[in-house]
Amino acid sequence: MSDAVDVLVKRLNGLAPKTALVLGSGLGPLAGEVEGAVRIPYAELPGFPRSGVSGHAGELVAGRLSGTPVLMLNGRAHYYEHGNPAAMRPALEILAGFGIEKLLLTNAAGSLDPQMGPGSVMLITDHINFSGTNPLFGEPSDKRFVGLTNAYDAGLRGAIEAAAEKTGTPLYKGVYMWFSGPSFETPAEIRLARIVGATAVGMSTVPEVILARFLGLRVAACSVITNLAAGMTGGELSHQETKDMAPLGGKRLAAIFKAMFAAGADV
Ligand code: HPA
Repeated sequence: MSDAVDVLVKRLNGLAPKTALVLGSGLGPLAGEVEGAVRIPYAELPGFPRSGVSGHAGELVAGRLSGTPVLMLNGRAHYYEHGNPAAMRPALEILAGFGIEKLLLTNAAGSLDPQMGPGSVMLITDHINFSGTNPLFGEPSDKRFVGLTNAYDAGLRGAIEAAAEKTGTPLYKGVYMWFSGPSFETPAEIRLARIVGATAVGMSTVPEVILARFLGLRVAACSVITNLAAGMTGGELSHQETKDMAPLGGKRLAAIFKAMFAAGADV
């Protein structure tokens, strides 16, 4: 057992969540709603990657959400921080080693659909990785040839859709295209993204989905839309806008997750 798994077992004291959430921009406040929360700074988990991005805390929070044991990562490491697509591999290996079976990923994203404006929530049905990199580069085993046909778990997606309906929260569905960041896309890149079938663009999540499937976790992912993508409004994009607008959709997505766990759905 890795040292970090050891720390988790000791600190969680018998709590054995099967579901982990990765809280992207706008979702951080959900960590404050965990009942009986145990908070562990990433610095106390040997090998755990830390994020230096403003708006991203760096702690693991575990407890109950709507009565269901959950584990949350409040803050994640991104590819664009150091150019390492496998930045989240140690974190996900630790979660899998601890017994996590399901991973709910969240992120902030730019929308390619003028109807799906800031504050919207999008369930990711599939992704496009045109980055040229992959978190499994260097993995020597044949397990690296991981299938992604059903990367986004049908059961988890169904539970999220049902919870959205129950709470009356509009839920868009679409394809997330991963751009490396940290610079935003150009208008020409967004036109390309539209042609190849993207609905939203962002700088995270795709490497985590690949790693999670590699580790055998079931995965679902949602975006909170913070802006229309580059060139769609005439204005310039900024990280400040992402941070300012993420809480809008973040509140909606948090309500969906709470309803999902309250329903005791297959999560
Ligand atoms: N592009 C990439 N990442 C993002 C965006 C965007 O427009 N908005 C929030 N994260």
